[in-house]
Amino acid sequence: AKILVLNGPNLNLLGIRDTKLYGQKTLEYINNILKREAENLNFEISFFQSNCEGQIIDKIHEAYGVYRGIIINPGAYTHYSIAIRDAIASVEIPTVEVHLSNIYNREEFRTKSVIAPVCVGQISGFKEYGYILALFALHEMLNRRYE
Ligand code: DQA
Repeated sequence: AKILVLNGPNLNLLGIRDTKLYGQKTLEYINNILKREAENLNFEISFFQSNCEGQIIDKIHEAYGVYRGIIINPGAYTHYSIAIRDAIASVEIPTVEVHLSNIYNREEFRTKSVIAPVCVGQISGFKEYGYILALFALHEMLNRRYE
């Protein structure tokens, strides 16, 4: 099965940016780990990062009929992009929302995700490990090993 990993604005700066909150790992490092993990799970995985809302939306549209699952960290768009939310809802691909930091113990404005209601679930607060957890969650959803 094909899985798409989307990262939104400023996540290209991982490893430099607020390392206490977001960890020391670069996005490239995280994606390499995901790639290795995906191979173990028999997933074919692709990666995309953009600082532009429209490009993220275009990727979600292109995923329609091609990908079986999406892992997305929408960055700050999490809190206000109805357009990304609508794109996810439109393509009906099981999507897991990931945040490196725990968005519930930070500023009030981060405690609201407009994306989460159209996702199968959300993982928040486990730094880079959240992406791996999301991959495991999609694997379970698509294979139902523990049902
Ligand atoms: C983030 C949390 C967002 O509030 C923030 O704007 C980010 C990163 C996270 O991964 O913890 O850019 O999505």
